[in-house]
Amino acid sequence: MMSTYLVTGAAGFIGSHSVEWLLGQGQRVVGVDNLRTGHLENLADARSSPRFEWVLADAGDEAAMRVLFEQHRFAGVLHLAALVSVPESFRDPALNSRLNLVAVDNLARLCLEFDCKRFVFASSAAVYGTAAALPNRESASPQPQSPYAAAKLAAEVMLLGYAASYGLEAVCLRYFNVYGPRQDPTSPYSGVLSIFTDRCQRGLPVTVYGDGEQTRDFVSVRDVARANGKSLLDTGVVVGRYNVCTGRAVSLNQVLAIYRELFPGVPPTTYAEARIGDIRHSLGDPQLLQDMLRFEAVILFAQGLRELALANR
Ligand code: UD1
Repeated sequence: MMSTYLVTGAAGFIGSHSVEWLLGQGQRVVGVDNLRTGHLENLADARSSPRFEWVLADAGDEAAMRVLFEQHRFAGVLHLAALVSVPESFRDPALNSRLNLVAVDNLARLCLEFDCKRFVFASSAAVYGTAAALPNRESASPQPQSPYAAAKLAAEVMLLGYAASYGLEAVCLRYFNVYGPRQDPTSPYSGVLSIFTDRCQRGLPVTVYGDGEQTRDFVSVRDVARANGKSLLDTGVVVGRYNVCTGRAVSLNQVLAIYRELFPGVPPTTYAEARIGDIRHSLGDPQLLQDMLRFEAVILFAQGLRELALANR
């Protein structure tokens, strides 16, 4: 059945892939972005679809969002618009609170008012903090270590409260380290794989902070887009919070071995002091989302990395 979905942060890295997935399923999508960190080029393909409507607006602007709810009958909201940088959340906690907490609450209340049941929210593995046991399970008690993580957790709690109070079908997805095409490499806090890919493509050496033995649970944006889409469309979702991850740990040194194969001419890697506050190992347990949605991340890391590295060359 064709329905209309609202996607905020549509011009972002994860947003644009999610929009494409939904359009590929024959759905209609209204995509909102204020282009603060998103890029309109990311929506070039989506905008050629007659089932896509592009809206330049801030997802935190309640009046602007209300107009959209009045114009459409949304079957669900995928809320990805956010302040995405953890360091920026330290520098500007007020902006973090507005974008990562208040905007979520505004949108969720619009859903209640306009009887839009499904609300899929982009949360983060950052909510676990450093103390939780590995692999991170949703039942662990979260320990946010940044304003960013605190706001994401608070927003989850609000949504689950609305679920209990009003029957909102809230699905909070805790993304681990997402990678893939269109991730912006320009900030020092950009995802490590977007930085490495950009530098290798330009023939520049990469810098590893620490000894390279730190591990991450890298999940392809294509798998993430599918998790988002299924969470919106599936008729049997269960309210709650879910890891979006692979359950497999990959070290930066393993990553570098793959890059050396793909880019034999790249100068030797520089090793520098580990970053302050860096997490040694991050790994998620994918079981809960698998049980709920029959969702499994299927893109193998080596394959996903190759696709990323060989794109746009
Ligand atoms: C990620 C999230 C962050 C979240 C955290 C929670 C991203 C981009 N960031 O941070 O929002 O709070 O998980 O656990 O997904 N590195 C290098 N060289 C570089 C860049 C990075 O060696 O040029 C290293 C980092 O020091 C780190 C690893 O690569 O050890 C991954 O870094 P990064 O991609 O920034 O993600 P996280 O630190 O895991």
